[in-house]
Amino acid sequence: MAAVLDSVRAFFAQNAFTIDAENPGDVVARENLLDRTMGPSRRRKSSEALRRGRVPAEGLALVARDLRGHVIGTVRLWNIEAGVNRDGTPVDALLLGPLAVDAAHEGKGIGGALMRTAIGEAKSRGHSAILLVGDAPYYERFGFFAVKAQHLVMPGPFERNRFLGLELKDGWLEGAAGMLVASGRKLAMPRMRRAA
Ligand SMILES: CC(C)(COP(=O)(O)OP(=O)(O)OC[C@H]1O[C@@H](n2cnc3c(N)ncnc32)[C@H](O)[C@@H]1OP(=O)(O)O)[C@@H](O)C(=O)NCCC(=O)NCCS
Repeated sequence: MAAVLDSVRAFFAQNAFTIDAENPGDVVARENLLDRTMGPSRRRKSSEALRRGRVPAEGLALVARDLRGHVIGTVRLWNIEAGVNRDGTPVDALLLGPLAVDAAHEGKGIGGALMRTAIGEAKSRGHSAILLVGDAPYYERFGFFAVKAQHLVMPGPFERNRFLGLELKDGWLEGAAGMLVASGRKLAMPRMRRAA
């Protein structure tokens, strides 16, 4: 486990929650949490087109747990190409989302802890930029701004003022233009058995 997660775990243990790597046993609780906080329309978002059928970026599926270990928050990041740069080379980046915290635990700093851990972990793993679609007044505190995504488009409807970027390496998104494309590893699909 990367050093960022370990130090964040130790710090937030005092605050009645921990930030941890998601494991396969968390999937049902995470999906229930997303259904509760975001509703069924979450599956129709343009971001979903970049996530569907893919696994999250290595080490970048995080959960917040209460002291009994129950999942009370989630964030995941996904490998994408953020258009191309001026010489036509695809721009590697991450897409962040969904971020959600159980309504019973809002306002305790869990969303912020998930965001800061995710950003630190992405940086320590050598990633260069993160994009997301969300409320600017919330995400600006973590360094996300619309200007960083101004020449990029989502693969579907999106609100320009909610499409935000953060550079983990200075200047990484300068000149990046075009549509976001999924580039993460594909989910292994169970093989269909032929009828005899
Ligand atoms: C948005 C969300 C992740 C915040 O989680 P959280 O654990 O309550 O966040 P934190 O405790 O770290 O931060 C709370 C602060 O963020 C502010 N905040 C929360 N949502 C906000 C929003 N959409 N826009 C602006 N500020 C927001 C709160 O007012 C609070 O401000 P304060 O620190 O000045 O009091 C959580 O409310 C949630 O899951 N919402 C439903 C799902 C969702 O909308 N996710 C995407 C967010 S665009």
